[in-house]
Amino acid sequence: MKFWDREKEKKWLKRYLLTEPNAILFVYGPKSSGKTALLMEVIKELADQDEFLKGYDVYWYDLRGIVVSSYEDVLNIFFEDAESEALKEVEREFGIGIPNVATFRVKRKVMEEIKRKEVDAFRYMERKIASKGKKGIIVFDELQKLKDIYLNGGSQRPLVKELFNFFVRLTKVLHLSHVIVMTSDTFFIEQVYTDSTLKNTTRFYLVDFFDDETARDILISEGFTESDASYIVDRIGGVPWIMEEIIESKDYEKALVELHNQTSSRIFESIRGREDLKNILRKALSGENLYYLEEGYDKVEELVEKEILFMDPIGREVKFHTRLDEIAAKELLGVE
Ligand SMILES: Nc1ncnc2c1ncn2[C@@H]1O[C@H](COP(=O)(O)OP(=O)(O)OP(=O)(O)O)[C@@H](O)[C@H]1O
Ligand SMILES: [Mg+2]
Repeated sequence: MKFWDREKEKKWLKRYLLTEPNAILFVYGPKSSGKTALLMEVIKELADQDEFLKGYDVYWYDLRGIVVSSYEDVLNIFFEDAESEALKEVEREFGIGIPNVATFRVKRKVMEEIKRKEVDAFRYMERKIASKGKKGIIVFDELQKLKDIYLNGGSQRPLVKELFNFFVRLTKVLHLSHVIVMTSDTFFIEQVYTDSTLKNTTRFYLVDFFDDETARDILISEGFTESDASYIVDRIGGVPWIMEEIIESKDYEKALVELHNQTSSRIFESIRGREDLKNILRKALSGENLYYLEEGYDKVEELVEKEILFMDPIGREVKFHTRLDEIAAKELLGVE
């Protein structure tokens, strides 16, 4: 599979990973902006260097769709059963899964002790990493469900606190491992960003869609003429998966119309009979930065949840999720 550009982001991330772990890194950005693809590419390119393999172990946890609501759930994510016949079989047939990704394998007896809390899971992992003499890079792709626990607090709050404390220990305190959390959920990012107990322990890195110039260059490199590339980017912006669809379509004009109609129907459904939401979109179209909206901000949040708008809590702005959304909203609301 090909990977486009991201030179600037790759450089930043590589440099970040090769310096001493000192904070939890939150990689955030709009849905499908290319966060996962970027980080995988960075790890892959780094893993081509022997020096990197000697110095680092990468632990990658894809949490999409996984519900994390108890201590046991967290343990099941972190630890693999060293005696599992299923895992052994998969390993025999397919090798050890994603190349260069390490796991915490534990014997069942140890797992029992951990589950009974006779052994502290986090201390155990900390020692495992330390004993390897390599730095860790722990990646969580989509910590989605954690947000619910985080926001709703209640009895689960200590678990999240414990987990974040562990991350802080691994990074800022012991400098043993990087911890990278990827998410498109910017309400979660906002929550973490404004949590005073996490002050000075976190960093944030935005992975946005390609800018227009880069998107045009990519399309040209894929065989489009300069004027076709400009025409397309003016309509879809730099959304990687949409660019892929256009490239793969036999008739890009037709594909553009389909994409526009799809977006238009989706937004129409969302704002039908909702003057409040329409007003917010009109404001967005007039160029107002809705991040600072005093009244009716809950409507902005509703549009962010529907992925029509995107809110960046670090850059402090609200904008349209994609150019397709902006163009469709303009048309639906009859804005020139
Ligand atoms: N630099 C790139 N070059 C080529 N394809 C890319 C690139 N970045 C992303 N893509 C493609 O775009 C799609 C979305 O990318 P990806 O899943 O990495 O986004 P994401 O930001 O992780 O999304 P989500 O918010 O859902 O986690 C994928 O099909 C991916 O292959
Ligand atoms: Mg992703």
